[in-house]
Amino acid sequence: MTDPARPDAVVDHAVIAARDGRIVYAGPAGAAPVLAPARTIACDGRLVTPGLIDCHTHLVYGGSRAGEFEARLAGASYEAIARAGGGIVSTMRATRAASVDELVAASAPRLAEMVAGGVTTVEIKSGYGLEAGAEARMLRAARMLGDRCGVSVATTFLGAHALPPEFAGRADAYIDHVVHDMLPALATEGLIDAVDAFCESIAFSPAQVERVFMAAHALGLPVKLHAEQLSNQHGAALAARYHALSADHLEHLDQDGIAALAGAGTVATLLPGAYYFTRETVLPPVAGLRAAGVPIALATDCNPGTSPLTSLLLAMNMGATLFRLTVAECLAGVTVNAARALGRHDVGRVAAGMRADLAVWDITQPAELVYRIGGSPLHARFWKGQ
Ligand code: NIG
Ligand code: FE
Repeated sequence: MTDPARPDAVVDHAVIAARDGRIVYAGPAGAAPVLAPARTIACDGRLVTPGLIDCHTHLVYGGSRAGEFEARLAGASYEAIARAGGGIVSTMRATRAASVDELVAASAPRLAEMVAGGVTTVEIKSGYGLEAGAEARMLRAARMLGDRCGVSVATTFLGAHALPPEFAGRADAYIDHVVHDMLPALATEGLIDAVDAFCESIAFSPAQVERVFMAAHALGLPVKLHAEQLSNQHGAALAARYHALSADHLEHLDQDGIAALAGAGTVATLLPGAYYFTRETVLPPVAGLRAAGVPIALATDCNPGTSPLTSLLLAMNMGATLFRLTVAECLAGVTVNAARALGRHDVGRVAAGMRADLAVWDITQPAELVYRIGGSPLHARFWKGQ
């Protein structure tokens, strides 16, 4: 098994004991307490890691953006497509037209691909409905998918993702609607675990995001932010002021933003799939984050526009190859730090007291999980001990 204190190191000849879905012992067989297991499973020298955690996805949506991809290949930019009414708004149209069952059916294959890559916890955002009914359907679909696929789902309300066309030119009025109508209603329905926003020139200003954050806090909900993806709006510092669980993307983060994240203990979630797919050329400031001790998470950002990626293993490879993260950072990024980015303390480590969410791999060294491009060496997966 991977060492809970150093995810790129291995504890050889380990035993993991679980009862009622929780780990009761994990460590060297020689030091294990006397166990009388009802069932023993031999892993035959395979590597066991925590079940992986994908802490930033937009997995539930309707439609496809392959045509927009072709337009980008012909030279159109992501921003230009968004400003011309495509982009997020085109996925909004397809998502609004879908029922909960249709959203579940469209999204289940994507989640199945994640599960085949060893994922046991996934965050799923709303943000393609952009009106109360469709946002609710997205979040209900997310909850249903977790039960159906045997994965823990953390739901994030991303009502402030893009301006829906019916509010064109009235962004503040849309934020009023998010804050006064959508957010409280969806929270009352128990559909929201955290609240996110997109702070960008093509989305919402820091002042508008702050109103969303204040409303989230008034309801006792933690916040996160899409920050510094396309330009530096100083969103990370705003997120830090609201003790955000994470600030995500961060290619255009500056030194003040790094210091703010470090001071607040906010996780920096890096999304190399979006960096790759949009052909971004500005790298996130990994050396600065590392020097400041900011915890780094890695996620797929699975979405139809900027990261049609379902492999968290490939995100790890891209984190290493494109962002120069170490093997230890990549592994921590999809386990312990990803748990922290979701405000979860009971998953992400193979240790007593943690939930028995485990991945058993047909490999012997952790580096092999990061090294491969494509495919999944998953041998078995345990979710809540099953
Ligand atoms: O994380 N940045 C904003 N949201 C998504 C993209 C959504 C889309 O284009 O559909 C992201 O990159
Ligand atoms: Fe995203």
